[in-house]
Amino acid sequence: MTPAEAKKQIAAHRAEVARHDELYYRKAKPAISDLEYDRLKRELADLEKQFPAAARAVAVESPTEKVGDDRSEGFQTYRHRLAMQSLDNTYSEAELREFHARLAKLLDREDLAYVVEPKIDGLAVSLTYEKGQLVRAVTRGNGVEGDDVTANAQTIHSLPHSLKKTKSAPIPDVIEVRGEIFMTLAEFQRINQAREEEGLERYANPRNLAAGTIKLLDRSEVAQRKLEIVLYGLGYCEPAAAAGETQSGYHERVRAWGLPTVEKIWKVRGIDEVWNAVRELDQLRHRFSYGTDGAVVKLDALQLQRDAGSTSKAPRWAMAYKFAAERAETQLRAITIQVGRTGVLTPVAELEPVFLAGSTVARATLHNRDEIARKDIRVGDFVFVEKAGEVIPAVIGANLARRTPECRPYVFPGKCPSCGTPVVEAEGEVALRCPNYDCPVQVRRRVQHFASKACVDIDGLGEAMVDTLVEKGWLKSIPDIYRQRREDLLTLGKSVEKSTDNLLAAVEASKRADLWRFIHGLGIPHIGVAAAKDLAGHFGSLEALTDAKLGDFIGEKKTSRIEGIGETMAQAIIGHFNQPTNRTLVSELLALGVAPAAPVKKTATATSTLLAGKTLVLTGTLPSMTREEAAAKIEAAGGKVSGSVSKKTSYLLAGAEAGSKLEKARELGVPVIDEAELMKLLGG
Ligand code: IVH
Repeated sequence: MTPAEAKKQIAAHRAEVARHDELYYRKAKPAISDLEYDRLKRELADLEKQFPAAARAVAVESPTEKVGDDRSEGFQTYRHRLAMQSLDNTYSEAELREFHARLAKLLDREDLAYVVEPKIDGLAVSLTYEKGQLVRAVTRGNGVEGDDVTANAQTIHSLPHSLKKTKSAPIPDVIEVRGEIFMTLAEFQRINQAREEEGLERYANPRNLAAGTIKLLDRSEVAQRKLEIVLYGLGYCEPAAAAGETQSGYHERVRAWGLPTVEKIWKVRGIDEVWNAVRELDQLRHRFSYGTDGAVVKLDALQLQRDAGSTSKAPRWAMAYKFAAERAETQLRAITIQVGRTGVLTPVAELEPVFLAGSTVARATLHNRDEIARKDIRVGDFVFVEKAGEVIPAVIGANLARRTPECRPYVFPGKCPSCGTPVVEAEGEVALRCPNYDCPVQVRRRVQHFASKACVDIDGLGEAMVDTLVEKGWLKSIPDIYRQRREDLLTLGKSVEKSTDNLLAAVEASKRADLWRFIHGLGIPHIGVAAAKDLAGHFGSLEALTDAKLGDFIGEKKTSRIEGIGETMAQAIIGHFNQPTNRTLVSELLALGVAPAAPVKKTATATSTLLAGKTLVLTGTLPSMTREEAAAKIEAAGGKVSGSVSKKTSYLLAGAEAGSKLEKARELGVPVIDEAELMKLLGG
């Protein structure tokens, strides 16, 4: 390669890396796998090493940022007290051994003690605790300054607002504790499933969804998607001694302060033990609640870490060993189309079964029409299948070397495979939809959802029974559930009398199911169980929800008026009930005798005056009731419930793991009571 060619290649590689950094860090929408990205970076590094003059010339002519930058609009930037560095990484055992050899030489000792930790596939965050109180949560940003995401991070249930005092680990005056925000696979799948049903593009993996979520400007939407956090790292600490002397000891302190830490770390000596630990971690990691993409090997002694120091990019005392994503090659036999509850058509790859990362894969989602075209996947191709986020199989692409002329580009059907209605392309959506509201598959899925355990929960009306009733033509809509006739059902087989009566009794009983179950059952886009409960608590009846206006949800300045319900949800609800069919459905249900059980209202009319004029603040976990239940009792006794402690607070009701509110109450001399004392005040 001539120097001129090298320069061109280096420039092209740099631009490509910068493009993928932008997609990954800022947009949370990567276009290539981590493995491909790392390969690209490695090629770039090799070229730069081979042609240093060309590399310098490119750097001068078109400088690019060194590390990814996640900072985005709408957030305050905050400068880390101590920069957040990135890690050198490798996929090769030999390079991991070289890492140790370098350190052994530098520090002049062979038997170095290390800690091996899981490498969590989340997004890096730095929490600052001052005198034990959480004051700030900041993303990595460009490593020097990041986005202040404190308000959003506070929605993470497992994140304590104050550090627990313990004898073994004094709380530092100031400490930056670092770790990763992540989303569990279960939560990721729940959100993606809902998106798929709405015809929206799926999120690529839990990491990107977590990254996108922490950057939402609407805090109540953040709260609806459950984020989690795990902490492992040390930033600035004052006094420095409060962090301890070793990385392993630091983990213990972090745990003692009540912060969530990784499930397991390995304390080892020498590189052979490091390697054994890395392999053991690879076996265990699938049981962790977060995704892992490798192991991080760190010198255990903090003093040795300081001695080893850092390069401009990364510490010399740590190295990430990354596990290659497990991948298999198999033949694509067919592409089938699934029709969802809202009519969205999802293409599914029917594969020659293949064993991959612990299970046999025979089907994988192809997401949507554009995705098939972009990857140019054809029936008959040999395709690569990877487990993204470790569990969900995804078709990565076709092996072009094995393509035969019989493999023709896939033509997406123009008609619904279930009812034959021409499909439509909705604006702003990637999915194609069957617009026929009466499409039998859609009817089936709608009714199945409504009758499911997460909705009105009708025992005996499972998927198979719904299919039968739809086929018979007796079930064309949700209200039809309440129009089933005993004499029809009895014709479904011999000796079905008992099951028929049980089913009819369950249908009858479901008329009085909790209001939130009906709201969830209506299948309004974006409205899951948690939102349905919030809505039920606020509106108290189906009629009130049906008639709600945007102003009932969103106040001036776009603030949300109902806890847990952000603008996207509000718009979805309004849009849903703007459609006459959806309004008719509710009135039909009510006419058929559906009488949802209204929740104990938060603002219940007082039935006594035991707490009249008193304001209570609730914090922590109560032994036998939820905070909502306690609030309902207080309000029923004429008391008020407020969110923050002030001099005017009459009592703080504190349960287990009460945090900053308890301290504030003590500071202000507000009386603190527990659940038993509340019950006494209520005359119990
Ligand atoms: S240590 C100066 N430990 O991986 C050392 N990082 O690829 C900084 N990560 O930016 C990081 N798990 O966001 C460390 N156990 C772990 C980790 C970890 C995940 C992330 C971290 C870092 C990135 C580098």
